[in-house]
Amino acid sequence: MANLVIRPLVSAADLTACAELMVSTEPWLTLGQSTAESLRYFQQPNRERYIATLGERLVGFLVLNFQGPFVGYLQAICLAPDCRGRGLGSALVAFAEDRIFRDHPNVFLCVSSFNPDARRLYERLGYAVIGDLPDYLVVGHSETLMRKTRGPLRPATRS
Ligand SMILES: CC(C)(COP(=O)(O)OP(=O)(O)OC[C@H]1O[C@@H](n2cnc3c(N)ncnc32)[C@H](O)[C@@H]1OP(=O)(O)O)[C@@H](O)C(=O)NCCC(=O)NCCS
Repeated sequence: MANLVIRPLVSAADLTACAELMVSTEPWLTLGQSTAESLRYFQQPNRERYIATLGERLVGFLVLNFQGPFVGYLQAICLAPDCRGRGLGSALVAFAEDRIFRDHPNVFLCVSSFNPDARRLYERLGYAVIGDLPDYLVVGHSETLMRKTRGPLRPATRS
């Protein structure tokens, strides 16, 4: 069995494969994301995009956002359905954390209320719930903001 390789998304073929994977699976099915939106999603500025491969096959992706108030945001993570449940997702999260913690003390992410399996995985990996955002992406479902931290943004001040 080939090893998981994670590398930057660079080619148009990778972009198309990521968008196709995204629209084929939860949570993006329930969120109603179209192929055109998914293609745009991977082309947003100020993001780092990575693909995961097993041999020649693209099996997953990661999108990291380094802008905004919750800087160090794991914006999207996905593995092909037949590759789930054997530790590869945890390896993708570990890669994201290595990258984000290099520059920032927090990793943030959101998980949909209808995705309890992913939430359980994040909790096991040390993410704490910050709070719920009801009806944030679609009516009837909330997004739960979670955070893993290595410390505050600013050093302690002396009194
Ligand atoms: C979330 C995801 C990346 C985890 O990857 P993974 O390879 O399945 O994760 P691991 O094998 O390292 O860990 C398995 C754990 O993840 C859970 N998990 C989460 N979503 C899962 C899914 N759709 N299928 C199988 N396992 C899933 C399993 O329940 C398992 O936890 P458990 O042992 O408590 O049951 C992957 O399942 C996935 O791509 N899901 C669809 C997209 C998604 O939900 N992305 C997250 C949006 S916040």
